[in-house]
Amino acid sequence: MNKRLFIRSTVLAAMAATALPVLAQSNTFKIGLILPMTGQQASTGRQIEAAARLYMAQNGDTVAGKKIELIVKDDTATPDVTKRIAQELVVNDKVNVLAGFGVTPAALAAAPIATQSKTPLVVMAAATSSITQASPYIIRTSFTLPQASVALADWAPKNGIKSVVTLVSDYGPGIDAEKFFKDRMLFNGGKVIDSLRVPMRSPDFAPFLQKVRDQKPDALFVFVPSGAGAAVMKQFLERGMDKAGIKLIGTGDVTDDDQLNDMGDGALGVVTSHHYSANHPSAMNKKFVDAFEKANKGMRPNFMAVGGYDGMRVIYEALKATKGQGGGDALLAAMKGQIFESPRGKMFIDAQTRDVVQDIYLRKVERKDGQLYNVEFDVIKEVKDPGKTK
Ligand code: PHB
Repeated sequence: MNKRLFIRSTVLAAMAATALPVLAQSNTFKIGLILPMTGQQASTGRQIEAAARLYMAQNGDTVAGKKIELIVKDDTATPDVTKRIAQELVVNDKVNVLAGFGVTPAALAAAPIATQSKTPLVVMAAATSSITQASPYIIRTSFTLPQASVALADWAPKNGIKSVVTLVSDYGPGIDAEKFFKDRMLFNGGKVIDSLRVPMRSPDFAPFLQKVRDQKPDALFVFVPSGAGAAVMKQFLERGMDKAGIKLIGTGDVTDDDQLNDMGDGALGVVTSHHYSANHPSAMNKKFVDAFEKANKGMRPNFMAVGGYDGMRVIYEALKATKGQGGGDALLAAMKGQIFESPRGKMFIDAQTRDVVQDIYLRKVERKDGQLYNVEFDVIKEVKDPGKTK
């Protein structure tokens, strides 16, 4: 009798011990945020983490009865590391959502894990068009290079730029930028006299810029990933390319708000196309920039920050819509089709492509209140990714 009682109580105790963590876990909603916090892409990690934490500070850390837990992991933008971390987050930490992804190879490395585990994966930074096709569980809140590049190729020939040399980082987003800028330039009657590609890792722009100087195009079109823009600008000016009559144009990655203010007067007048400027004149953006700068002294939010902030919004709203009960498929369904005002302007997540549809702005670097900004002067509304075949 005593023995039976003992066995029963031990079984009950064991059940309680296993039930407890399950209970605790189901009251928590975990977001695994994989970002480059160190290395060449560290500014992207810093920007996105700061924006995600700001979103949580403004919107609370309990949603639909669940406590939100943000687990930040540094993948150093190395795809093998990204893959291992994504696996650990899914298997060990049992995250409900994977998010972040500072570069294209990182997003692609994690895609199969999202598919196998049916975990929604929110791409907040990486911007090669094809990423959303790597898994049906991917949603994107950043942008695509085709989306940003085409607008500039429409603007350039109408503004005295007939011949261009393109200079891009030699991987996914750079190749997208080169192709979509060039095709549209040709379509518009312009010329692309050369297309140069620089290594993604530790690029030396000098020999490429020297070549461009000799080729004397009306403009040099540049795509480099966030964090590399200041180096391009410096070497462009050092070589006196502007004085030789060559204009610098590009996607907004080159006049990145994270670095722009330190680029100096040489950056004045540079025209770029992009989806976000810290100078975007809306009430919502002013509030966002003020709060971000207050919470992160000495930092100005860039387009990476806004991708992180809006990514958190998409996750929070999906959790609300599923009343905290959703598994991966239900959350994914609730992410698709979301339409809302972002600090960048209106945006939505196309339910078919799971990619972001948004306004693309033409901007010029100007000095305002003593600081350098990308000042918007034209807009193309509701641009879908031109890189999608369907
Ligand atoms: C990318 O790797 O997809 C990427 C990184 C930084 C950018 C844009 C695209 O600024």
